[in-house]
Amino acid sequence: MPKTGTCEMFKKANDGGYAVGAFNINDMEILQGIVEAADELSAPLILQVSAGARKYARHEYLMKLFEAAVETSRIPIALHLDHGDSFELCKAVIDGGFSSVMIDGSKYPFEENIALTKKVVEYAHPRGIPVEAELGKLAGVEDDVKVAANEAVYTDPKEAAEFVERTGCDSLAVAIGTSHGAYKFKSEAKLNFERLGEIQKLLPEKYPLVLHGASSVLTEFVEMCNKFGGQLKNAKGVPEEMIKKAASMNVAKVNIDTDLRLAMTASIRRVFTEQPGEFDPRKYLGPARDAIRDMVKRKLAVLGCGGKA
Ligand code: G3H
Ligand code: 13P
Ligand code: ZN
Repeated sequence: MPKTGTCEMFKKANDGGYAVGAFNINDMEILQGIVEAADELSAPLILQVSAGARKYARHEYLMKLFEAAVETSRIPIALHLDHGDSFELCKAVIDGGFSSVMIDGSKYPFEENIALTKKVVEYAHPRGIPVEAELGKLAGVEDDVKVAANEAVYTDPKEAAEFVERTGCDSLAVAIGTSHGAYKFKSEAKLNFERLGEIQKLLPEKYPLVLHGASSVLTEFVEMCNKFGGQLKNAKGVPEEMIKKAASMNVAKVNIDTDLRLAMTASIRRVFTEQPGEFDPRKYLGPARDAIRDMVKRKLAVLGCGGKA
C-alpha cells in the first residue's frame, strides 16, 4: 500500500463519524506492534514522531522503518511530525520524506502562532504536505480553577475560525480538557463537549479537529505496572466513552502515546519480575510488542476505524 496523506484519511473519517488513531513511535518494536494491529483490523493509520523520538531513533532509521511498514502492510499509513516546535524542524522532515507535519505554536500569542503556522503552511502546501496546527493550551483543567483561568486554556471558537482562515492549516488540535501524560485529572474526568461543538460550528463544515492527550490510562495497566515494582500514583486518563463521543464528532485524529507506554512498561516489568534470570532482549521486547499490538487494537475499536482502510 503506498503511503497516504492525512487529508484523504480525515475526509473519510469525518464523513463516516469515526477518527483515525495517531500513535507515537520511538523504536522498531513499538512500530511493529502498532502496524500489526492496524493491519489486522484493516484501519487507516498515522505513525507520529516527536522531536524527542526523532533525536532518539534518528531520522534515517525512522524512514526505513516507515517504508518497511508501508511495504509489508495492506493499510494506508502516514508518517507525521508530532509537536513540531520550529519552522526548521518542519522543513527538515518535509524534505526528509514525512507525509504530514504538526507545527505547535500554541505556547505563543495568537498573532505569533498565526505567523509561524502560516510560514510552515507556505512551505508545506506547494510540496503536497498537510499541516496540523494547535490553538489553546492543553493542560489539566482542575475543578477548583477559577472560571477565567479555566477558560484561558480552552480553544476559543471565534479564534479557531479566524486562525484556520488566516493560516490555511489543514487540521487543528484543540484544547477541550485533555492533557498529555498519565496524570490528566485530579478528580473526575471532564471534557468540554459543548466547547467542541461550538468550535465545530464556526469552522468550515467537517473541518478535521485533532485531540491530543487522549490516552485513557487504563486501571489494569497502571495496576500491572505497580504490581511489578512501578510507582504510578493517582494516574488518570480520558475515559474511553469520551473518546468515542469525540470521534463521532468532527475529531478526525486522536493522539495516543501514554497508553502504549504503559502497556509496554507493564509487560517488561512483568517479565523482569517473573523471570529475573532472563537477559535476552527478545524475551521482553517480544511480549512488549504484543502488548502494544493488543492495546492498539483496543484503541482502534474505540475510535471506530476498524475496517475503514
Ligand atoms: O505529546 C507528546 C508525545 O507523547 C511524545 O512525547 O516528546 O516524550 O516523545 P515525547
Ligand atoms: P497521551 O499522553 O494522552 O497519550 O497523548 C499523546 C499525544 O497527544 C501526542 O501528541
Ligand atoms: Zn500531543
